[in-house]
Amino acid sequence: MAVGVVVLVVGAALVLVPWSGERESDHAEGDLRQLADARGMDLGVAVAVDPLARDSTYQDVVSGNYTSMTAENTMKWSLVQPERGEFDFSGPDALVDFADEHGMSMRGHTLTWHNQLPEWLAEGEWEEEELREVLQEHTEALLGRYQGRMQAWDVINEPFQDDGPELRENLWLEAMGEDYIAHALWTANAVDPDAELYINEFNVEGGGAKSDALYELASDLLERDVPLHGIGFQSHFLHGQVPDDLVEQMERFTDLGLDVAVTELDVRIPEPVGQEQIEEQGQEYRQVVQACLEVERCPGVTVWGAAEHHSWVPEWFPGTAQALPFDENYVPKPARSGMVDALSRRRQGRRPSR
Ligand code: XIL
Repeated sequence: MAVGVVVLVVGAALVLVPWSGERESDHAEGDLRQLADARGMDLGVAVAVDPLARDSTYQDVVSGNYTSMTAENTMKWSLVQPERGEFDFSGPDALVDFADEHGMSMRGHTLTWHNQLPEWLAEGEWEEEELREVLQEHTEALLGRYQGRMQAWDVINEPFQDDGPELRENLWLEAMGEDYIAHALWTANAVDPDAELYINEFNVEGGGAKSDALYELASDLLERDVPLHGIGFQSHFLHGQVPDDLVEQMERFTDLGLDVAVTELDVRIPEPVGQEQIEEQGQEYRQVVQACLEVERCPGVTVWGAAEHHSWVPEWFPGTAQALPFDENYVPKPARSGMVDALSRRRQGRRPSR
């Protein structure tokens, strides 16, 4: 087959031939959405506001392949509350409405984090009481607005230092102490009692000291009956380094009575990217979806972007690329087939379909 793409848009489903001249028979091309639904699993994608408004192919990739959406940026503080008391919900509204129109669920992202904060918040000198008020107002405004429409919220994002077991010294910790975590979870739960509340973290997917610290934190919160329902394994992987013991690592947390979702999956490949790595990456995506299927309390896997030209990877990890299941022309890659493959395997009887 010559290198080129045939794009067929049938209803909401986008059907494309596989990546870079592969024979069609080499790769599974099933209906991802339908397969995920049949397995009772969410397959999500991080979505950006602009292409969702303007680019019909982007819309088709999102609604034709995935059952769930996460707001990649538009629900973060700097965009939602750029000035104190001034809220902008245009982006979040657009996403939540799109999800409703297309029968997709939503994950909310994110409430307490150290990044993408508005200047007024990041640079303020906060006393504990006042910061609690700020958090309360923001939670009421944001979680309150979408109450009942969000399946989950990443209430706590990246609470630990990048590589270490210590809690990150963010403004929340500085003003409120370690209990900011329980406090944010209680606040979120009071505003949206139906949403599953998560701690979302990276560099914990393969175990180690940071994962142990997260385990201790989660155990402690549960012992105190704090409303924590899930752990997000962000899963920003480097090609070749997807942990073999993902199932085991997830089950450690699900044994505590928590859900564990893969929340931000991408697998970046060092450049120059060849067809061989692209094929291997297909197996890595298969492995991650398979891991989630094996873990009884893994509700789903979310990939961190709809296509290469919307991926954060080239900017944030220079020298790596092609981390997602669709390339810069929205052509599906073996990564998509890998997910189809995992979802098509014979049911192992653990999960009722929805
Ligand atoms: C990233 C977005 O993808 C980028 O567009 C933005 O510039 C920076 O943030 N962990 C998270 C996500 O929890 O919110 C981050 O998203 C990626 C790392």
